[in-house]
Amino acid sequence: MSFDRGSWNTRLGFVLAAAGSAVGLGNIWKFPYITGENGGGWFVLIYLSAILLVGVPIMIAEVMIGRSSQKSPVSAFKILAGEDSNWRFVGWMGIAAGFVILSYYSVVAGWSLNYVLLAIMDTTHNQTPEQIGGLFGKLYADGNITLFWHFLFMSMTVGIVLGGVRKGIEKASRVLMPLLFILLLILVVYGFFAPEQGFMRTVRFIFYPDASKLTSRGVLEALGHAFFTLSLGMGAMLTYGSYLDRKEDLVRSSVTISILDTVVALMACFMIFPIVFGYGFEAQAGPGLVFKTMPIIFSQLPGGMILALMFFLLLTFAALTSAISLQEVVTSFFIDETSWSRRKATLLTGTIIFIFGVPSAYSGQGAVFGAWAEIFGMNFFDTMDYLASNWLLPAGGLLIALFAGWRMPAALTRAEFSTGSNLEHWYPIWRFILRWVTPILVAVVLLYKIQVLRLP
Ligand code: PHE
Repeated sequence: MSFDRGSWNTRLGFVLAAAGSAVGLGNIWKFPYITGENGGGWFVLIYLSAILLVGVPIMIAEVMIGRSSQKSPVSAFKILAGEDSNWRFVGWMGIAAGFVILSYYSVVAGWSLNYVLLAIMDTTHNQTPEQIGGLFGKLYADGNITLFWHFLFMSMTVGIVLGGVRKGIEKASRVLMPLLFILLLILVVYGFFAPEQGFMRTVRFIFYPDASKLTSRGVLEALGHAFFTLSLGMGAMLTYGSYLDRKEDLVRSSVTISILDTVVALMACFMIFPIVFGYGFEAQAGPGLVFKTMPIIFSQLPGGMILALMFFLLLTFAALTSAISLQEVVTSFFIDETSWSRRKATLLTGTIIFIFGVPSAYSGQGAVFGAWAEIFGMNFFDTMDYLASNWLLPAGGLLIALFAGWRMPAALTRAEFSTGSNLEHWYPIWRFILRWVTPILVAVVLLYKIQVLRLP
């Protein structure tokens, strides 16, 4: 037992930190572009159902496993299922996912830092759209610069986690999350006044279901993204739950976190698409939507430099509060399982994760890591992302659902569910969904992916 294991100061602190984990690049970078690629409407509807039927039940289960064991993933399963139980491998998988995700996540977040600097220097001021769009290609292809930003971002992450649960993570979340909401709100209001009815076109795009645009691939992507965006399936919520006081209402907290995450994802669309439509750009721009299209548009707007600065600060804050939760999963594993101090655990693993991210940072520089490129027909960066969001998180989530639904005694889950909560009448419904609906949905998706079931 180490002294370095902490606890939240207040329930609000927990909710902000956990919402900070959930709200990240997934909401602001990824959700708008996959919505764009999948034609909006139906995709959004399916995504919302996935949050409700898969995300929320697993969120409650994860926080519950953490809170009832007061441990990080591996130790939690040992305490709840027995020292030698195979369930502990679910915890191991989570630690592995933490390493993998943070290593490339920090690379993307580093690009965002790069754009903060570009905005401050007003670099794009007199450039043509082609030149501005080309900036991202240059950055992506320049491994050294990307590596520098990756290093800086990892240092910020490690710096906060070194401060501990209250003085590091909770304090950072209390400052960064409100700032993030304010920036988001300002930019959404700005989008409301976009020309060419950009805002109304966004409403239509997001909420009008056009069946012809829906593909079965889109359905799978929506479900996979539900895990990523809510930080589920790898023990982040479990670890944060382990610092939550036993008398707090974990159901209400989990629902609040899920709602905040969903609202931010939708708001991100209402920040981006009105100006994308309003200035005659395409919604299907893909991963470059945030790093290419947005800087081009900003450069054409009055006060665009300030807008760009706000936008990329927002993106950076969102990424930072998510990155600290990934680092914390790894750190808390070593605190719980070894005699290491928080300082040692964080500095050592942070360094390893940084090194592990080096091939991702150089992914755009084909020649250097050319050999990696063909593993799955993707470069190292894409391979890591694919591995984590398509396999590790859904598989981890499935096992967590099965554990809380079938393995944990009902008396324990009921007690955890009801403590401090006036939502206890939802318990039977939650349990039913967690035992039957969630696992079947996730299993079907995984079976499609290994092509046991075939896509029509
Ligand atoms: N939820 C984060 C996002 O949307 C990513 C993340 C995944 C963070 C898993 C922690 C754990 O960007």
